[in-house]
Amino acid sequence: MRDTAHFLLGRDSRLVRDVSPTLTVLEYLRTVEKLCGTKEGCAEGDCGACTVALGEIDGDGVRYRAVNARIMFTPALDGKQILTVEHLRGTDGSPHPVQSAMVEQHASQCGFCTPGFVMSLFALHHASSPDDRASVNDALAGNLCRRTGYRPIVDAALAVGTGRADEGFTGDTAARLRALDTGDRLELRHGGQTWIAPRTIAELAEVLLKHPDAVLLAGGTDVGLWVTKQHRFLETIVTLDAVRDMAAIEEVDGTLRIGASAVYEDVLARLEALWPDVGILLRRLGSRQIRNRGTIGGNIGNGSPIGDTPPVLIALDATLVLRRGGEERLLPVAEFFLGYRRTALAPGEFIARIDLPLPRLGWRFRCYKVAKRFDQDISAVCGAFNLELADGVVRDIRIGFGGMAATPVHVPAVEQTLIGEPWTETNVHKAMNILDATLTPISDMRASASYRRMVARNLLFKLFLETTTPAAPAWRAWHERDPSLWAVHHA
Ligand SMILES: Cc1cc2nc3c(=O)[nH]c(=O)nc-3n(C[C@H](O)[C@H](O)[C@H](O)COP(=O)(O)OP(=O)(O)OC[C@H]3O[C@@H](n4cnc5c(N)ncnc54)[C@H](O)[C@@H]3O)c2cc1C
Ligand code: FES
Repeated sequence: MRDTAHFLLGRDSRLVRDVSPTLTVLEYLRTVEKLCGTKEGCAEGDCGACTVALGEIDGDGVRYRAVNARIMFTPALDGKQILTVEHLRGTDGSPHPVQSAMVEQHASQCGFCTPGFVMSLFALHHASSPDDRASVNDALAGNLCRRTGYRPIVDAALAVGTGRADEGFTGDTAARLRALDTGDRLELRHGGQTWIAPRTIAELAEVLLKHPDAVLLAGGTDVGLWVTKQHRFLETIVTLDAVRDMAAIEEVDGTLRIGASAVYEDVLARLEALWPDVGILLRRLGSRQIRNRGTIGGNIGNGSPIGDTPPVLIALDATLVLRRGGEERLLPVAEFFLGYRRTALAPGEFIARIDLPLPRLGWRFRCYKVAKRFDQDISAVCGAFNLELADGVVRDIRIGFGGMAATPVHVPAVEQTLIGEPWTETNVHKAMNILDATLTPISDMRASASYRRMVARNLLFKLFLETTTPAAPAWRAWHERDPSLWAVHHA
């Protein structure tokens, strides 16, 4: 057992013990290290001013990802490297190519958001993403420019390119990160708070039995805000950060198994290859910074009625593997949500894995997120549909909705109306009326109940049109190639 977090700050080692486990990385940088280049804007992961790059071992090298320092807790840096805008200068004082490109393209205006943009571009520069505008737009969706100077910033990104690992940062970093790993568990205590970082699923299960009231922390993109916005005091935190065996993604016997702590960016390509619509949806879930930390396990575990993945998982008939101590049980995802933010988890129990049956021939999957803004916005309504047609007749259909009740919902009554019937406009209209009678949305700041009802009906009709109109597939293929054009198409 160890009571000290070990990490690299730029090229320097840090051993951190006497800090609150909920001290955010941004507070640590600005108040302890006096590195004030990284800024605070919204304190909730929306604006990107606090973006830093997180380096983690990836095979023989190091992978850099942009993350929001304001909603990440300092002990989560254990075993990693953090780079801020102060670290980008070369040892001879020369600016990083990303910084030079920002200057050459006149991309820095008031400058408050610039460090965040630079760090997002630094991560993109080291990523194996395509070297094109869509990829740049995606990487920058979590950075807000208050002077709306996006064009020169995008030009700077295009000028500097992607996939060009910079030896200065990756040279011996992997070896140094490996050397930090002593193989024992981090348990840090400070001011009545405890941070526990189990290293295996079995260890996690044991720790949660001992601490059933602990807050289970995955990426912290929800939990971080409990601290920065709600000022909650979290006594015991059990983090999934070091539980590597819970981040695996594999295909076994016709099932895609997703470890509950796999982050969105790691699961996205796999899901997109199987269900292209899921790729489109996930690219609109938060920003790159959020997807670099957030997990599907956290999206389910928070029990929110407006999480984007539960409707998809309901339509795809996912099964959750829940674990408590040495015991596992299987639960269809639709049975997990019991009421507003109430779930079927027993004390000490956690989601270990999400199992998805692989797509079968003849099934068509569609999901649609309706939000006020294209990027980084929570859904007003999210609808997901898995339809099996045979000779124009509905052989099977599964439908999931978010934003339409106190929980994500499965609507078997609507499905039963359609199954066995011809897939015709008349029958779809009948089903739309049943949908209307079944769902009980609320009015809130995102949308009124009547708007939500209308949207839910229309999404079912949209599915009908897309699966029956010959022109639709061409349009979809075009928008799937470059999702950023979607917003333009709908303007
Ligand atoms: C700026 C911003 C934008 C966002 N945009 C979206 C969006 O577009 N769509 C959307 O759906 N969400 C969005 N979110 C919310 C959030 O990113 C997601 O809900 C995310 O999936 C949470 O995952 P996490 O790993 O960060 O969870 P955490 O914050 O670590 O945990 C969330 C909850 O789940 C529980 N939990 C975590 N893992 C498990 C597990 N394995 N078993 C049981 N319980 C568990 C935790 O105890 C906690 O209660 C956004 C958040 C931010 C800050
Ligand atoms: S302060 Fe706004 S994203 Fe971090």
